Amino acid sequence: MQVVTLLGSAKKEGNTATVLGWIEKELESLGHDVKQICLNDKSIKGCLGCCKCQENPDEIACVQIDDAINIMAQMISSDAVLFASPVYFWGFSAQIKVLIDRGYSLVANYHKPGHTSLMEGKRTGLLVTGADAYEENAEGMFTAFDRIVDFLLARKSGELYVGECGQPAEIPGEVKDKAVELARSLVE
Ligand SMILES: Cc1cc2nc3c(=O)[nH]c(=O)nc-3n(C[C@H](O)[C@H](O)[C@H](O)COP(=O)(O)O)c2cc1C
Repeated sequence: MQVVTLLGSAKKEGNTATVLGWIEKELESLGHDVKQICLNDKSIKGCLGCCKCQENPDEIACVQIDDAINIMAQMISSDAVLFASPVYFWGFSAQIKVLIDRGYSLVANYHKPGHTSLMEGKRTGLLVTGADAYEENAEGMFTAFDRIVDFLLARKSGELYVGECGQPAEIPGEVKDKAVELARSLVE
């Protein structure tokens, strides 16, 4: 399978990238083709809310031509997409949130008859790392992600929260097992 991973942290060797690396390694060892996109390297403008994209459900009809278009095209042509973000103020990092918002152009007629999506049926997963525990901290991200998956008519194949993170070298070994589990659930 072709798997696209979206790194939402600016740190290429930070906590999110470290756990994501374990997931990617497992996917590759299972024979899958993995392409990581480091969103911090990309130029993605915020959604204008103009809704012009809603006039053409058959393509990414966003009026803003920037890196989001190519990234969304890679998401559409993949079999699975893994979103990876640190918790920033109880939510997604700006780097990944801006792409999620632009994903409005992947869907038409949300909450109406004729709801369609260029991501329909696609496997998705969510990895989040944070300094604090899950409770009263990261729940909102997982709730939002479930709704985003419904919006995209995609399916969630796995999720992982890694809390109480300090430095990447201090991430407990058991997290690696959970990363492997997430990798497998994404493609099974
Ligand atoms: C601007 C900012 C906001 C943060 N907000 C939270 C937060 O609300 N909850 C939390 O658990 N950690 C928070 N953190 C900590 C990071 O989520 C945590 O260190 C994460 O593992 C960093 O991942 P990275 O090394 O991949 O960038 C915040 C960090 C920064 C820099």
